[in-house]
Amino acid sequence: MSAAPDLSSSVLGGALPVRILFVCLGNICRSPSAEAVMRALVREQGLQDLIEVDSAGTGDWHVGQRPDPRAAAAAARRGISLDGVARQVEVADFETFHLILAMDESNAIALEEIAPDAAAAAKVRLLREFERGGSEVRQARSRPAADLDVPDPYHGGESGFEGVLDLIEGACAGVLRELERAIGRR
Ligand code: 4NP
Repeated sequence: MSAAPDLSSSVLGGALPVRILFVCLGNICRSPSAEAVMRALVREQGLQDLIEVDSAGTGDWHVGQRPDPRAAAAAARRGISLDGVARQVEVADFETFHLILAMDESNAIALEEIAPDAAAAAKVRLLREFERGGSEVRQARSRPAADLDVPDPYHGGESGFEGVLDLIEGACAGVLRELERAIGRR
């Protein structure tokens, strides 16, 4: 099993606080869930002054809307509350954020397309690269990376939202592990 992406020598470049942006399509289901899960993990470790999180969508259909009630209900069952309203990713986000974590390959491609330069594009990773064993799949670039997608739950049933949270919790634990290493807290 290979390790998750090493952040210390690459995109973070010693910056503090580290700013992380989670990105999905609508910014009403997956990315606000990932933002809230990550914020809770960061708070549990007392790292809220060192790690900041936000979320956005590549699409604009839901801009200004609160998180999907099904996503909010699934998160609430785990003691997590979803905050904020949807916004669309903007080019300035590549300046503001050190790490941009896409929920699936199609959103990663959309982000890479609007990245202003190669350094900005290098900030884009798939969230699930950070789950145990994830980077092995990502490194095989010739293979479709669909198996590292957090699947879009919007058109599905309630159980899809539980599955999304399971994937997000596993991957965010990996993100935190790598960030702690990168900022010298581990
Ligand atoms: P999200 O879910 O990208 O996880 O926020 C979706 C929300 C809305 C749509 C698709 C996915 N939509 O087609 O409107």
